[in-house]
Amino acid sequence: MGVVVVAAGSGTRLGAERPKAFVELSGMTLLEHALRGVVATAGVDEVIVVVPADLVAGAEAVAAPMTGPTGPTLQVVPGGAERTDSVAAGLAALSGAVRIVLVHDAARCLTPVVVFERVLEALDGGAAGAVPGVPVVDTIKVIDGEGLVTGTPSRDSLRAVQTPQGFRREVLEQAHACAVAATDDAALVEALGHPVLVVEGDHRSLKITTPEDLERAERLLRLTAG
Ligand code: C5P
Repeated sequence: MGVVVVAAGSGTRLGAERPKAFVELSGMTLLEHALRGVVATAGVDEVIVVVPADLVAGAEAVAAPMTGPTGPTLQVVPGGAERTDSVAAGLAALSGAVRIVLVHDAARCLTPVVVFERVLEALDGGAAGAVPGVPVVDTIKVIDGEGLVTGTPSRDSLRAVQTPQGFRREVLEQAHACAVAATDDAALVEALGHPVLVVEGDHRSLKITTPEDLERAERLLRLTAG
């Protein structure tokens, strides 16, 4: 099984001087936190880390010691302009032996191992795709170009999805080859008509986007440590 960790975003909304994955949270970069979860997951053979081109060497120096001599193989590759391009770059770096791929946002750096396990279990059970999701607390409106509400989906039918998102490799590659615009990989796979199962996500899998998210993540880490 292979894991593609996408960490090539600029993170402009975080307002830091360096790309988001290289910002520190309790003395460790978001990328290192994310890799801790990945390497602690059983069954990972290959890890591909996708970073901005000028940070490949720096990321290698940080990531290599985390996998250890008996751990998964690790490669760091340059990403692209959009998240989809970065995922595609990661997929292209996987060896031919990989049949199951998890795609994980480095920005969701506190994702617990149990979430990786739930996604893998669903794939083991035969799902073509599996993603973690949590119920939404807000009422969600669908609007048109003028801001007029065109629908109010029942909250029971909605999930906010997270990563890692897992797929059979051939399904994800086929989906990427079709290259429609999408904010997650599951949407590409759904567009091809493949069923994607939602498994239970976790509030600790928050995506760090703004300085407030970083503070929330610091609090979560303090709670876990205490
Ligand atoms: O920008 P956003 O927060 O949606 O990014 C989600 C994840 O995708 C982050 O971990 C980010 O580093 C990654 N990403 C990427 N390449 C891009 C844009 C985002 O690897 N061009």
